[in-house]
Amino acid sequence: MDPPAPQLRIFPDRAAASAAAAALLAEEVRAANARGRRAVLGLATGKTPIDVYRELVERHRRDRAAKSSWDVETFNLDEYHPIAHDHPVSFHAFMRAHLFDAIGLAPARRHLPDGTTPNADVPAAAAAYEAAIVAAGGIDVQLLGIGANGHIGFNEPGSARDSRTRRVALAESTRARVAAEFGGIDRVPTHAITMGIATILDARKIVLLAFGAEKARALRAALAPPPRPELPASFLQEHRDVVVIADEAAAARAR
Ligand code: PGA
Repeated sequence: MDPPAPQLRIFPDRAAASAAAAALLAEEVRAANARGRRAVLGLATGKTPIDVYRELVERHRRDRAAKSSWDVETFNLDEYHPIAHDHPVSFHAFMRAHLFDAIGLAPARRHLPDGTTPNADVPAAAAAYEAAIVAAGGIDVQLLGIGANGHIGFNEPGSARDSRTRRVALAESTRARVAAEFGGIDRVPTHAITMGIATILDARKIVLLAFGAEKARALRAALAPPPRPELPASFLQEHRDVVVIADEAAAARAR
């Protein structure tokens, strides 16, 4: 039987959509912890999830005031390669700034692909990343953005359904989009380490965020059968529990 179609939830604006996504993540944490389990969250970076993390930090602050703590372990989708952990545009720095430090997440509970791994050691490090996810019990809920080119994580167009964590070349459009943050296209890494499509599809639940008109075409293409490597987000159609949280602008072509 085909998996059910992704559930599309449309909100009037990014703020309302971000609040809903944060509520969903916080509920996953609460539910896992209530069963005596650590919640395992798959996390994303980029402009899209910033307000989700802000809301999540606020929820954490309220829960802490109510003497309720969060038992959480996190795995990020991707990181540039090579890049230093303290490079201001690294995803390590992003996560510290937007979430980890504010919720006091212990360093041992934070996992990101390592942008400092020597090339020759990347296959072993990638396998170890996959093994760490399995050892944690698998990802309860994976947060995703979508690229204007349909990428998820740094699985650029052409990525295979069975891909796992690995080093990939970034699409030129992806590099161009972050050129200003790096201070010029020549300073943008050409490669990254990313979870694969199969890694992402192993998560028990997936929340795909799409905000703004620049994502409307990619979102429509992602929801249109069949799943295909040219549009990596379309492989989400093969997952049983995908919630798409979009604002009106991103959803304009998807209904
Ligand atoms: P953005 O990136 O959140 O910066 O738009 C999303 C993505 O490329 O996955």
